[in-house]
Amino acid sequence: MTVAYTESAYPVPLKENGLIVEYKSGAHSHDIPQKTRDLEIAHMLELLKAKPTFNPNLKFDPKKHLVFKEEYYKTTTTATLEDLGITKTRTAPISGFAAAHPFPLISQEAVDMMLWEAFQPNVIENYARLPNSGLSKGTTRLDFHLGGHCRYIAPFTWDLYNSPEVSEIISNFVGVKLGPMFNSELGHMNVSLASLDPEEVKEIPQTKEDLLAKMEHLDKNKDDVPSSLGLHYDSGTIALVIMLDLGEGAVGGETGIVTGDDKMFRVPDPKIGYATLIQGIVLKHVATKPVSNSNRITGVTGYAAAPGSGKLDNCRNTSNKPSVLPRAIHTPYWSEWIEYRFKNLEAHLKQEREKVMERFAKGAEFDQLAMIDTIKEMEKYLHDSWKEMEAVHNPPYPPAEFNTPYQDLPDYE
Ligand SMILES: [Fe+2]
Repeated sequence: MTVAYTESAYPVPLKENGLIVEYKSGAHSHDIPQKTRDLEIAHMLELLKAKPTFNPNLKFDPKKHLVFKEEYYKTTTTATLEDLGITKTRTAPISGFAAAHPFPLISQEAVDMMLWEAFQPNVIENYARLPNSGLSKGTTRLDFHLGGHCRYIAPFTWDLYNSPEVSEIISNFVGVKLGPMFNSELGHMNVSLASLDPEEVKEIPQTKEDLLAKMEHLDKNKDDVPSSLGLHYDSGTIALVIMLDLGEGAVGGETGIVTGDDKMFRVPDPKIGYATLIQGIVLKHVATKPVSNSNRITGVTGYAAAPGSGKLDNCRNTSNKPSVLPRAIHTPYWSEWIEYRFKNLEAHLKQEREKVMERFAKGAEFDQLAMIDTIKEMEKYLHDSWKEMEAVHNPPYPPAEFNTPYQDLPDYE
């Protein structure tokens, strides 16, 4: 019987609720305009191809492409949730870690290869879409999202984000054993490109003075800040954000984090190849776009509790499911999600099964109450694996939670 699941206040995604109605057929109303493909995207591929050592068949090599050094654990500025004054969160945090300021992570050659793989015409066609206007502001034909391509047609990027070395770096910062989420959450890009159309360029502030005046205005009028992703929580536990392109003299475009006193804290912008980390599932944040005519491209990958870490992941679908994020594709998205969740649960079940029999072998008494808690947690995990599917759950987006001050959040337990 499926009747119980269809009795929802929001049975289908509606445009007036900020949702993508054609989420099953590719969200083509959000396709990247031909002009952007012909001008700016073609230009970017030309520039990459023209680099003297460029090799389109480059293989990922952690020794060569990861530039992280042990000492960066000490030299990188980090903040805890407590440092940011955040005492109440929407779900249990994975650890006290909140954010890490930019640290060097990958080489320029790796950056170029990730851009090369992402800006191929078939990737733009199939895996890139303009943002959902429900959560973006002041975007143009030059601002878009891209992702979900890595597992299928971007082997370099796939290998990089899946490398044990990268997981280890993130785990060490966060203090919990983490691994990458599923493909659709891997190698996501927030893209803003500089216009090459002289008529459009005339409309954008040019001089440093004009740009700074605009920034000053925006600092005072938080609601006017142009963004490709307005105030939100991530659906993944930890976001690794790598700067892949940042035009010289770019003004604006930083990630802003809302602190416990409801103020905005701008994370200093990374240099190209540098990365930042945030516990995005409990930190409210905004991805702004530059006010200058500049490229700004970030690569974002979700990491969560790894199988065998003793914890189940706490990921959600709120902000990345196909009816909300136009670039997410229905069948791969949900298939990969279920594969991810079942794999994690399988590993967790195995671990719990072995623990029970180890205790038994040692002659310890069976702990009924502890086992009930363990099983209840897995029941909830299974329930959470389907509860946001579009077949049953299409509430208005963005949810009220995204604008609720931390201290007014309901208790999650
Ligand atoms: Fe985010």
